[in-house]
Amino acid sequence: MLGNQSSLTLYFLPLLQRLASGFLPGQYRASLLCRQWQTADMLQLSFNVSGRWPGFVPGQHVLLTLQHNGRYISRPFSICSPLSLWQSQQHIQLCCKINRAGEFTPLLNQLKNGAVVNISKAQGDFYWQQPATAAVFVAAGSGITPVAAMLLSQRHWLAPVSLFYRCRGSENAALLSELTQLAARQPLFTLTLSDSRTEPAETLQQQLMTNSSKQFYLCGPAGFMQQIRTALTNSGVSAAQIRQEQFGLAIAAPAEHMAAGLQLSASFIRAGISTQVTLNPQQSLLQNAEQHGLAPRFGCRMGVCFQCVCDKVSGQVRDIRSGALSGHGAEQIQLCVSQPVTELVIKL
Ligand code: FES
Repeated sequence: MLGNQSSLTLYFLPLLQRLASGFLPGQYRASLLCRQWQTADMLQLSFNVSGRWPGFVPGQHVLLTLQHNGRYISRPFSICSPLSLWQSQQHIQLCCKINRAGEFTPLLNQLKNGAVVNISKAQGDFYWQQPATAAVFVAAGSGITPVAAMLLSQRHWLAPVSLFYRCRGSENAALLSELTQLAARQPLFTLTLSDSRTEPAETLQQQLMTNSSKQFYLCGPAGFMQQIRTALTNSGVSAAQIRQEQFGLAIAAPAEHMAAGLQLSASFIRAGISTQVTLNPQQSLLQNAEQHGLAPRFGCRMGVCFQCVCDKVSGQVRDIRSGALSGHGAEQIQLCVSQPVTELVIKL
């Protein structure tokens, strides 16, 4: 099994975690400096991040991992602070919408100053690609966080930039004071608040139409972004002019399976009992197992916490994040980021 293993760290993980509690491969330690409410439900957290962390491009997000009830759980959050804060002090800030009924975000409000958490490398390709081209940013809700990082990081302003910020009144607009100060000192930047309580979405869409030759950056709830995107494309804005943020893992079915109409199956073995299931290739092995009433251990569901690691006895899987194919023999895999490629035998 050791010879088949794609990562030695994965093989020795249980031992490493016994030696260093809280150790997670590919993660970096960050200690909390302070918490501050931006709005009634947006909490800003400032962290001092390990000097080993490779840094970020404004607009990117990190996975923040906490240990809770004996397991690791993770969520993605965009960095909202300017690059200069990281470069000068190794600090970053995350703006997190607190869902009081959720499992994860209420824990953030219980973190004490000095608490140590894990963060991933910065991820995502939502960043300001052409600062020399006139651009329009459209943000709503926590979608303001990557947009604020991009705008607040900008040193050399080369073209006019507008931000349309959709919110339920200024009291619910996180990072508003930082953005207002930027608009006051930077003549090429204009900030427009669009109050969803008093202004219909059509008014915002009409304002955007007058900018149809520019580059658009959208970030907000999925329904909001879809509405804006449709309005823009209907008014002649090309897909290449629109960039938008997307969190989470997109799983595409392997083209060869779709073409051949192949059906795959797996044997999941637990406590010596084998359960044969038909696999949906558009889902991770974790989702497949759950849909058949099996309940594998998991934490983040994003490939971060390694709690879903189990033994593949035979068969081949694809890593959903990188597309890398595994070997065909025995090795350990992460169920949440593995997609079936061939018939499989897996020990849960
Ligand atoms: S559930 Fe966290 S790595 Fe799979």
